[in-house]
Amino acid sequence: MQALIYRALLILQAGAVTLVAAQFSPAKSYEDWWAYKESLHGTFVPGPAFWGLVNTAWNLCTIGKRQSPIDINTSQIVFDPFLPPLRLSLVKKKVGGTLHNTGRHVSFRPDPHHPVNISGGPLLYNHRLEEVRLHFGSEDGVGSEHFVNKKPSSAEVQLIHFNEDLYSNISEASRNPNGLAVISFFINVANNSNPFLNRLLNRETITRISFKNETNFLQDLSVEDLYPENFGFLTYQGSMTVPPCYETVTWIIIDRPLNITSMQMHSLRLLSQSQPTQIFHSMSDNFRPVQPLFHRGLRGNIDFRKPGRKCKGANFKLHVDIQTPLKTAT
Ligand SMILES: *[C@@H]1O[C@H](CO)[C@@H](O)[C@H](O)[C@H]1NC(C)=O
Ligand SMILES: *[C@@H]1O[C@H](CO)[C@@H](O)[C@H](O)[C@H]1NC(C)=O
Ligand SMILES: *[C@@H]1O[C@H](CO)[C@@H](O)[C@H](O)[C@H]1NC(C)=O
Ligand SMILES: *[C@@H]1O[C@H](CO)[C@@H](O)[C@H](O)[C@H]1NC(C)=O
Ligand SMILES: *[C@@H]1O[C@H](CO)[C@@H](O)[C@H](O)[C@H]1NC(C)=O
Ligand SMILES: *[C@@H]1O[C@H](CO)[C@@H](O)[C@H](O)[C@H]1NC(C)=O
Repeated sequence: MQALIYRALLILQAGAVTLVAAQFSPAKSYEDWWAYKESLHGTFVPGPAFWGLVNTAWNLCTIGKRQSPIDINTSQIVFDPFLPPLRLSLVKKKVGGTLHNTGRHVSFRPDPHHPVNISGGPLLYNHRLEEVRLHFGSEDGVGSEHFVNKKPSSAEVQLIHFNEDLYSNISEASRNPNGLAVISFFINVANNSNPFLNRLLNRETITRISFKNETNFLQDLSVEDLYPENFGFLTYQGSMTVPPCYETVTWIIIDRPLNITSMQMHSLRLLSQSQPTQIFHSMSDNFRPVQPLFHRGLRGNIDFRKPGRKCKGANFKLHVDIQTPLKTAT
């Protein structure tokens, strides 16, 4: 471990030298000074192994013991038949929001006027959807952050929610106990596409966010469409998978993958991490490596002890409530 850190510091030092040589300021702020692959060409940008070393505010990325993502060993999931189903609660069935190329991810943020809440499962509070985030690979079969029995999927969609009962916004929630809930779906490449993802990833839409910082407003999306008709899930306590890696996340991993087409996968790989005037760098392979589990437990409503049920899993349905909005003075 010490040797590893020592080696890391050496590389970091080499990087710092390059940095000076290139006369390049690290970034506008430290907040922005990280990447999925460290680059030593021209400028040093810290990759996952360095996140916790370059900024003391991010030290959990290195020393944390409840980090995410993880490799899920299905034989270690404790069957919990008392986990209630997940409950989606909305004001309107359809939501609008902004699709954004952040330079690191494809990100969809629902319009603040269209709240989408999730509760149930392991969650004791109402959590509000803040962002739908996509991680994907440069080739099929890699790209997800979580692994199942040592195997990644081609992509992973993460629905990032914050605890709205206790906290007023995501930045406050992310630093505090029970702050975040992330629901995660694995994605496979197939010849059909999940209806929600199909809206985000059709050619017309995705090509409008080809470069960093480009956005596109979308209307009439149904978050409910993301969820399979029947599914099981497992849950564990972990962290954000990006700096500052705060260990405030209840992860809920859905056991049934969603599909996207190979055309859509291809369009994702054509997204650039940079601006139009800069050299093209594909956004793909934007995943953090799996982290040690240590002594954490995995709990699920999928009973892996029963032979023959391995592929079928549980058959829970999402509960959906459409709330009548409170009348406000106009
Ligand atoms: C979402 O949860 C918050 C906090 O509990 C609550 O105030 C709000 O009414 C909920 N909204 C919906 C649509 O359920
Ligand atoms: C899962 O864990 C069991 C022991 O708990 C171990 O024997 C097995 O090799 C693990 N499987 C994988 C894919 O890591
Ligand atoms: C988030 O909420 C905290 C506490 O209410 C507040 O101090 C902070 O300014 C808010 N941050 C943003 C980005 O709104
Ligand atoms: C995904 O695609 C596979 C194979 O093409 C198919 O068997 C499966 O039913 C699809 N899943 C959904 C949710 O449509
Ligand atoms: C979808 O793919 C399967 C094999 O993966 C193939 O058998 C089937 O014909 C395809 N369907 C369509 C509509 O292309
Ligand atoms: C990103 O876009 C916003 C407006 O859409 C603009 O104000 C901002 O300067 C852009 N940032 C960069 C780094 O181009």
